[in-house]
Amino acid sequence: MPLLTYEPSTLLIIAFCVLITEFIRRRYLLWHIPSVGFTAPLLTYLTALKFQRGSDQLIQEGYDKYKPGLFKIPLWDHWLVMATSPQLIEDIRKATDDTLSNHEAFHYFFQSKYSVGEDVLDNNYHTRVIQAQLTRQIAVTLDDVREEVVMAVAGIIAVKDGSWIRVSGVEKLIGRVIARTSNRRFVGVPLCRNKEYHKINIDFAASFVYSGKMINNFPSFMKPLVAFFYSRTKTHIHSQMKFIQPLVEERRRKQKELGINWQGKPDDLLMWLMDEAGVKGEEPTLWDLARRMCIVNFAAISTTTTSCTHALYHIAANREYVEPLRKEIEAAVAADGWTKSALLKMHKLDSFLRESQRMRGIHVLTLKRVALKPFTFSDGTTIPAGTLVACTSRALHHDNEIYSDADEFNGFRFSSLREKEGQNTKHQMVAVDREYLAFGLGRHACPGRFFAASMLQLVVAHILVTYDVEFPDGQSIPSDTFLAESCFPGEVDLLFRKRPI
Ligand code: HEM
Repeated sequence: MPLLTYEPSTLLIIAFCVLITEFIRRRYLLWHIPSVGFTAPLLTYLTALKFQRGSDQLIQEGYDKYKPGLFKIPLWDHWLVMATSPQLIEDIRKATDDTLSNHEAFHYFFQSKYSVGEDVLDNNYHTRVIQAQLTRQIAVTLDDVREEVVMAVAGIIAVKDGSWIRVSGVEKLIGRVIARTSNRRFVGVPLCRNKEYHKINIDFAASFVYSGKMINNFPSFMKPLVAFFYSRTKTHIHSQMKFIQPLVEERRRKQKELGINWQGKPDDLLMWLMDEAGVKGEEPTLWDLARRMCIVNFAAISTTTTSCTHALYHIAANREYVEPLRKEIEAAVAADGWTKSALLKMHKLDSFLRESQRMRGIHVLTLKRVALKPFTFSDGTTIPAGTLVACTSRALHHDNEIYSDADEFNGFRFSSLREKEGQNTKHQMVAVDREYLAFGLGRHACPGRFFAASMLQLVVAHILVTYDVEFPDGQSIPSDTFLAESCFPGEVDLLFRKRPI
């Protein structure tokens, strides 16, 4: 009998049975792992709903109850298995990509099928150029980046004489500074200064994150429909194409006329992507270049903006750090100018930024992976293929057994540790380990963290030596806002004034 002749009530009963069967199947496969929240069929959806706005509380509850083991939380259509201890985290780090897949997790959380295309990571050459060219050239291009920082900051903090001004929407403004600064290395001048260009990159990032989460709220058969109505990522990729098209065409023309290494060849992300993709003899399509430019902008801007906003909040809330930080920055710059070697001398600033990220990271969880085959942790627990797994990074960063007075902001926590014999590099901002997961860990640890750290140092150091920063009377650091596993700084105004000489 054709489906359309069924009564609606019959269809509802069938849908209900399918849901229950699926629930029991998934539940059974992970029966041995304890759960947080409701576990009864259908009630799990209440926990999945709570996860949307209260993921931090749910994960903290699981961490407190089940550390050092595993626990699970129901999402709409999956269970998420969480690893709480450094040993289990090490198991995830060591697992090969064909066992615990980072790419599958990317596809799941961002629903890339409906936004950038599931083939985007088959050859993720954008990651390779970040690891190689972008990182290698940080020192020699620092002047350019600093030039952009100074101009961009002046554009958002419009102080006159020595009086205080009140700045609202700090995170948005910082987003513009980071978009402009990072794009100095991604597309160069003048496009990096184009506000419309910043906007499409910032809008892409928002759409990529929110539509991924929205699509994940619906069962598989409804996902294409939700994506059709909700996702705007493809529109933003098309706008990106319009912006880069003249650059790409001009560069291709010169390459043909003057050879592969013509004089004056731009040295930016777009050029590296064109070169890297062309290695196999094929020219990448404009669409392919544009979606990668969007992805890298997304990875760079939203994260660094969040970290920078938190750092400013921590400065305003902890005024006692300002003078020691200024002293350190000014001494380093007096000796070496605004160079990479000066940044490397700023241990206190580096520590302040690392501590700020420890206290208020961008994610409640990191090292998200999908098991492609059954995987057994070192404590003997096995998860079946298809399981989503991640680490409880925020809870771990607030664990008193790992960090003394973990809930207290101690800006020089890491610079003090670096003074100990043999510990100089272990506690740097960019160092990753099983107890510091802000940049992930292992072969998929953030490849852009070296660039992000120097950009953050430049922005925060410049603000510190140029301005006084305070909260308006009675205000302090606002609580973070959570959207599923992502975490955003709360909104509060900041007061700025030109630093009195
Ligand atoms: C403070 C700023 C940043 C933070 C906190 C951050 C954090 C992270 C985290 C947690 C991951 C996932 C690691 C894992 O799953 O193990 C990641 C991956 C990634 N990040 Fe960053 N990131 C930042 C800045 C940047 C920048 C500036 C870029 C680009 C220039 C970038 C590019 C990437 C890319 C391409 C990946 C995917 C790597 C892979 O899958 O192998 N990130 N980042």
